[in-house]
Amino acid sequence: AIPTETVYGLAANALESTAIAKIFTVKNRPQFDPLIVHVASWHDALQLATDVPPRAITLAQKFWPGPLTLLLPKKDIIPDLVTSGLDRVGLRCPNHKMTQQLLRQTSFPLAAPSANPFGYVSPTTPVHVQEQLADKIAYILDGGNCAVGIESTIVGFEEDEAVVYRMGGLAVEDIEKEIGKVRVSIHSTSNPKAPGQLQSHYAPRKKVLLGRIAELLSRFRGINAGVLSFQKDYAQPFQVILSPKGNMEEAAQHLFSALRTLDKMPIDIILTELVPDAGIGRAINDRLKRAAAT
Ligand code: TXA
Ligand code: MG
Repeated sequence: AIPTETVYGLAANALESTAIAKIFTVKNRPQFDPLIVHVASWHDALQLATDVPPRAITLAQKFWPGPLTLLLPKKDIIPDLVTSGLDRVGLRCPNHKMTQQLLRQTSFPLAAPSANPFGYVSPTTPVHVQEQLADKIAYILDGGNCAVGIESTIVGFEEDEAVVYRMGGLAVEDIEKEIGKVRVSIHSTSNPKAPGQLQSHYAPRKKVLLGRIAELLSRFRGINAGVLSFQKDYAQPFQVILSPKGNMEEAAQHLFSALRTLDKMPIDIILTELVPDAGIGRAINDRLKRAAAT
């Protein structure tokens, strides 16, 4: 397992099908869900992709290394197993010192999905990985807590249009400042272009209810409920506040840890609320809605 600024990843040589296959086994991940390939630089990305649109170059120059995955037409060197047979590969240059160093030491790119069992909340600390996968993998590189805390934003290009397939650690507004209007297409379908779009994703085991916390608390009086709030203290015995200061970056950083913490508390349900729907807040809200959608 490797640290990145977004979440921990479960890494293997992206050019070796046998290594890639192990990722799917360890994660219990269906093979129709493709993997993101991590590279040390834009130069390395160009060894793996072809027909790169100018706007992809603009975005990579501005936001790499960082929480941005670009879907680009793949070269044959990338095994079909990585892309689930799709003709585009997701490429990302992570902004984490240790993993940058690792990528420069290896002679190959690293395919890495989030290091969690399929469908569960992504890990943002080495302990999260250890709790769920320690007996299945050989090493966890301890790179500390993830600074961004939410997965990368996925961007691709259809005809002449830039499309966001997953909202994430890079705000849509920041992308639009560089390349103009983009289409956000994060709805789940039976044949998703980015299966991070599947609805029941990022879900803790406990039932998550989304709404106005004060109302939910009175509706569920008498039930063992935990509270996950953005900023406000609801004075509950089982509660996590994402950012007492109301800072969106801090809220994103704490989101997945908070869901895991609540999942372990002696409660039956988790009551939560949306955060302000702008910037990285849109990605937080997307994860909260998915966590509540089971
Ligand atoms: O921040 C991140 O992106 C983290 C870290 C480890 O880099 N990785 C991550 O990977 O979140 P994963 O596998 O948990 O989510 C990647 C999403 C999946 O929903 C997958 O379907 C989509 O990216 N994806 C990857 N390659 C794709 C492709 N070629 N076409 C469409 N979607 C793709
Ligand atoms: Mg994942």
